[in-house]
Amino acid sequence: MTTSTALAHPNIAFIKYWGNRDNELRLPVNGSISMNLDGLFTKTTVTFNSSKQDSLSINNSEVKGKGLERVSYILDIVRKMANINEKAEVTSENNFPAGAGIASSAAAFAALALSASKAAGLNLSESELSKLARRGSGSASRSIPSGFVEWQMGKSEEDSFAFSIADVKHWNLVDCIAVVSSAHKKTGSTEGHAIAGTSPLQSARVADTTRRLDICRNAILKKDFETFANIIEHDSDMMHAVMMTSNPPLMYWQSATVEIFHQVREWRKNGLPVGYTVDAGANVHVLCLGEYAKEVEKRLRELNGVKDVLVAGVGGGAKII
Ligand code: PMV
Repeated sequence: MTTSTALAHPNIAFIKYWGNRDNELRLPVNGSISMNLDGLFTKTTVTFNSSKQDSLSINNSEVKGKGLERVSYILDIVRKMANINEKAEVTSENNFPAGAGIASSAAAFAALALSASKAAGLNLSESELSKLARRGSGSASRSIPSGFVEWQMGKSEEDSFAFSIADVKHWNLVDCIAVVSSAHKKTGSTEGHAIAGTSPLQSARVADTTRRLDICRNAILKKDFETFANIIEHDSDMMHAVMMTSNPPLMYWQSATVEIFHQVREWRKNGLPVGYTVDAGANVHVLCLGEYAKEVEKRLRELNGVKDVLVAGVGGGAKII
């Protein structure tokens, strides 16, 4: 019996990944940039033993069906790499709401890739771990490295992995996540990626990605907040425009989501350094400089429809604990 426990943070994408060129391998149609979220985490223990089947428990409740199949898919890859046959018991817990646009699958599959490979006796490099996590959920590739992270789309499966572009200490950015809904979203990102190409806007979004990646990467490296805020809002709006014009259409925003956009832009115009971005959910990630986090949190809590605000700084990479 071999066991290992790993911890990984979710991440928030600044330049979004939306659409695959290979759904099975989760090879993206465009590169993306994100930041890991400190304080929010998934902790996963994998134990290979003599049981007859893989099992999965999340926050103390047993998961079967599609959720378990997705985990077994990663375990199968690990078993093949390590040349073992044992089934595994997987127990996972996270301290934030799952399925509500807070990238729960990113933290989950990053923690699973690390704990499963270690428990199987493998010592994978950071890029190998990133590729393994990618097979479970594309954005999970970005929760393996530390701090500010870029996932290069790559030419093939071999070079589609994420790496750190700046470490945790580089820039004191804080993500104030305005929770407007903690309900599990109806359409998950796996289905969303599969229909992204049905929007006539997707090809224009993809063709323009190098420009947005360059602007965002440079803004992070130069700590230029104004440019950063403008590009993350622009990129988020572009992805949601694709979602809304897909077939079938996907509308993740609630009215409270849009209200926050207006407020954030107004606050920025009046001198508060803030910018918004939204993943596949209704909750709004409001990014700000660390010294303004208390003020931003306070203002968000005062808005109608905001049920809670989670505050997260820049997080490290996935690690064994
Ligand atoms: O990794 P997935 O399949 O959950 O896709 C993530 C998609 C977005 O969160 C909307 C964007 C991103 O880059 O994280």
